[in-house]
Amino acid sequence: MKTFSHDTQESCNCLEKTNLQLQAMTSIIQTSKGLGFTPYYKYENFWYPEHLLPVTLDMQATFKAQPSDIILATMMKSGTTWLKAIIFAVVNRHLYTNTHKNHPLLKSSPHDCFPFIHSIYEKNNQNQLDSMPSPRLLAVHVPFSHLPASITDSGCKVVYLCRNPKDAFVSLRHYLDKMKPVGCEMTPFDKAFEMFCQGVFPFGPFWDQMLEYWTESIKSPEKVLFLKYEDLKEDLADNIKKLAEFLGCSFSAEEVKRGVVEEIVQLCDFETMKNVKANKEGEHGALVRFKNSGFFRKGKIGDWKDHITPDMAERVDKIIEQKLLGSGLMF
Ligand code: A3P
Repeated sequence: MKTFSHDTQESCNCLEKTNLQLQAMTSIIQTSKGLGFTPYYKYENFWYPEHLLPVTLDMQATFKAQPSDIILATMMKSGTTWLKAIIFAVVNRHLYTNTHKNHPLLKSSPHDCFPFIHSIYEKNNQNQLDSMPSPRLLAVHVPFSHLPASITDSGCKVVYLCRNPKDAFVSLRHYLDKMKPVGCEMTPFDKAFEMFCQGVFPFGPFWDQMLEYWTESIKSPEKVLFLKYEDLKEDLADNIKKLAEFLGCSFSAEEVKRGVVEEIVQLCDFETMKNVKANKEGEHGALVRFKNSGFFRKGKIGDWKDHITPDMAERVDKIIEQKLLGSGLMF
């Protein structure tokens, strides 16, 4: 029998429940305090932060994809902001010179240039979808099996990004700590780590979400491109070329010779992006407001080593190894 129980004493629920949320609760089988300060609900095998479940259900039911849409799906804290900027720069390179000081990415946040579908739904601003230029650049965090059917049926391109789970966990903890409303307490680190090992992560279990997109990328490589943060860090130029080819807008030999790929690498460089005024001082989000500066912390591989003990690392590595066994995907 499906049950719903939620210890309001334990969590800091600053948000009002909507009708959709109440409807969704009939399908919720488990709740958790979460890794930061908001409760998470387990819905059809995946964990949702409380405020994102109703909008996801709404999006699933009503979002109409167009075949030309480009959907960026990411595991949270895997470099979404970075890849939004990269895709925007690649797709719009004929409209804006990447070195020009008026480039949109030097004036605004990548989250404004490339919105999350759930943010549009949170703001009840679905009309925005009709006025977006083609190709529409839209982002999601949901697992492949929770995407609106119109995305999977329309044949539009899906780019997926994930990251070493230990680095993403550490990144998320810092982010949530920075974002927590006054008076809210964070779940202690070791308790949050325990939950993470049990699969609690926004839109996770981490390994299940990665595996879904990985499997789809093998099955339909023309529809789903699977990328890792670590690979982007290792050779961004090469991955930008791969990405452009996947999106059907390959760089010509002349563009490569002119240094267009290198210009995009520079434009989307961590230090460049971090110092853009809109990324330093701006905010975005609907029900919950996020400081854009929270999306730029260290931008390094292996920062987990300063936060997770070798024993904890071994434990999560074993889980990952076991979950990904036989898939060909490794971290
Ligand atoms: P850290 O917290 O480890 O520094 P998301 O955009 O999915 O929320 O991911 C945020 C993570 O991406 C943060 O990781 C952030 O610093 C990193 N990041 C943001 N912009 C980046 C860039 N241009 N290059 C590399 N990493 C970047």
